[in-house]
Amino acid sequence: GRGRGGGRGRGGRGGGRGGRGGMKGGQKVVIEPHRHEGVFIARSKEDALVTLNSTPGKDVYGEKRIQVDGPPGPDGNTTKIEYRVWNPFRSKLAAAVLGGVDNIWMAPGAKVLYLGAAAGTTVSHVSDIVGPQGAVYAVEFAHRPGRDLINMAKARTNVIPIIEDARHPLKYRMLVPMVDTIFADVAQPDQARIVALNAHYFLKNGGHFVISIKASCIDSTAPPEAVFAREVKKLQTEQFKPAEQLTLEPYERDHAVVVGAYRPPKKAKKSEG
Ligand SMILES: C[S@@+](CC[C@H](N)C(=O)[O-])C[C@H]1O[C@@H](n2cnc3c(N)ncnc32)[C@H](O)[C@@H]1O
Repeated sequence: GRGRGGGRGRGGRGGGRGGRGGMKGGQKVVIEPHRHEGVFIARSKEDALVTLNSTPGKDVYGEKRIQVDGPPGPDGNTTKIEYRVWNPFRSKLAAAVLGGVDNIWMAPGAKVLYLGAAAGTTVSHVSDIVGPQGAVYAVEFAHRPGRDLINMAKARTNVIPIIEDARHPLKYRMLVPMVDTIFADVAQPDQARIVALNAHYFLKNGGHFVISIKASCIDSTAPPEAVFAREVKKLQTEQFKPAEQLTLEPYERDHAVVVGAYRPPKKAKKSEG
């Protein structure tokens, strides 16, 4: 045990409203839903982005946990609900959420294909967000982080770890159904092509993509803005319709996240007359 985060729920009065709880040191915490369904904000001395822990009592990578009183259970006793702190310095998706991204397209129930899962830190939060009705198909080709990813997925049944090269989606086609959203953070110069390949096999028409672009991974000599613009152009030639772009300052330097739709249905023409 790392001895962190296990805030002792403090007495409180458990009036069934849910929300009040204790953090380390016993400060009061109030949980509020974030604009993005499945994401929450823990309001305390310092606010924190959090997700509802699907494995209460367990952290994934040493992140802090926050417990609050939930609604009374069938026996009338208050239940405990646990959240995990989602650090924007460790997750580009969290940085995008705090940066005000319009939509992450990962509501509860969503099926997400996640390319570049690494050890699964962000994947674990996406797993919390999409919940038991959703699923995260997490692709990572490096074996060392892949081992942690596989271990994390043992306790999280909505995570399907896939240790393969995302450049070869046919190798995992039997594991991945059609998905609602592709998230990509592979940090490779050919990322746009990798995402296009995967979208071709697995992304629904009208589905969405969320791509993190690290300028220096694509071209370390051009100005980041020019690199982002070029990547957006590449996406457009692959039937992606980028709708939003934001940089990840102050959490990451020279990174952008681009969000948009894949083969969106043509809008019906308004009949004139
Ligand atoms: C920036 S890290 C991802 C961090 C992760 N998204 C997170 O938030 O915790 C990029 C990861 O993509 C993986 N990767 C790079 N190219 C890949 C490929 N072609 N197929 C699968 N994984 C790849 C790398 O091994 C690395 O773990």
